[in-house]
Amino acid sequence: MAIYNIEKAGESTVLREKAKPVKEVNDTIRTLLDDMAETMYAAEGVGLAAPQVGISRRIIVVDVGEGLIELINPVLLKGRGKQVGDEGCLSVPGYYAPVERYKTVYIEGLDRDGKKVSIKAKDFPAVALQHEIDHLDGILFIDKAKKPSKAEETEEAETE
Ligand code: NI
Repeated sequence: MAIYNIEKAGESTVLREKAKPVKEVNDTIRTLLDDMAETMYAAEGVGLAAPQVGISRRIIVVDVGEGLIELINPVLLKGRGKQVGDEGCLSVPGYYAPVERYKTVYIEGLDRDGKKVSIKAKDFPAVALQHEIDHLDGILFIDKAKKPSKAEETEEAETE
């Protein structure tokens, strides 16, 4: 197990790249998943994407307190409804802003054994998943943040 340094916006080019799909889920990928989870927990974040540790691959981990979700090559198939809540990001330390997201999302990806998994998530878990998938396309929450204003549906800010 290893804890990675987390790349910071403005200092990292990988954070702004479109990450490459994982071709084969092997032990290297499983070790990366373990290290990403350890890094996320050590930083007290609720999500982490591989580009945040300098690795341009489509891999995310999320744990909003309901257990660890690991996804390889995740795809947002469908989103429904809207929610707005304050977001933060381990790559954008100290900054929080409201972002509009889908309320409910349907996501597909691969698990650590390379098996296809489908996930339906709503409310805050859906926010975290959308935030992390954005990282795989080089998108940061500050790109989507609304101008500071009163959030329509305020969530306690957590760092992803
Ligand atoms: Ni983030």
